[in-house]
Amino acid sequence: MDVIPKIIHLEQIESTNEYGKQLLQDKRLDEHTIIWTDNQTMGKGRGQNRWYTEKSKNLTFSIVAYPTFLDIANHFYLVKVVSLALVDAISNYTSPVSIKWPNDIYVGENKISGILIENTLEQNKIKSSIIGIGLNVNQTAFDPTLPHPTSLKNATGREFHLKHLMYEIIIFYTRRLALLKNNDLKTLDDDYHQYLYKRDHTCSFKKGETQFNAVVKGVSKSGYLMIITEDGKHHTLDFGDVVWE
Ligand code: BTN
Repeated sequence: MDVIPKIIHLEQIESTNEYGKQLLQDKRLDEHTIIWTDNQTMGKGRGQNRWYTEKSKNLTFSIVAYPTFLDIANHFYLVKVVSLALVDAISNYTSPVSIKWPNDIYVGENKISGILIENTLEQNKIKSSIIGIGLNVNQTAFDPTLPHPTSLKNATGREFHLKHLMYEIIIFYTRRLALLKNNDLKTLDDDYHQYLYKRDHTCSFKKGETQFNAVVKGVSKSGYLMIITEDGKHHTLDFGDVVWE
């Protein structure tokens, strides 16, 4: 059965991920609790990046999860669960939707959504996770310095009801999470690969100042990108090692 999550709705907050982490320090929140804001003023992206969003136009929320059953070695499966939930939801409205490794969601050649998962660890297990999702929905104009942003409205020409859309994402998320809880890793692997951006295509990467071309083959169990360079050699790339060009 699909869950009805508890929602903490805030008019404005710097970052739903940060707020969620602070709350978790003080008390246990129910699994699937959502921290959702209309106006995220200091959104965090992966690495040193920021996440920019126009007030009341887009979805910026975080989901509380307790994937305590997951070994650290398998932490990338949570990335797969969330990426696929977003693909499931967005594909209802537009195509082609893909997952640009590790977890950017693309429509065609443009980024529509980003994910930031922050885990708290205990021994070799994940104790809790804050799953931050930014999805561009009704915003149509973006800072020209951002790399290829788009939104659902840009892709479809229509306006979306933010809360309804968020519920749709949660439903897909809980279904994908159930696959993980049931240890159906094959479905998650197969689907993630099916939607992997540029799979079997030659792409340009940059490591430091060095540019190279390689064919994208897949993603390993632990989340490394598997590529074949022009000399025929197989390599795995960690996030942070390289940038897509
Ligand atoms: C990325 O693409 O770099 C990840 C972006 C993640 C943005 C979301 S918006 C909701 C949540 N709160 C944050 O501060 N960041 C995430």
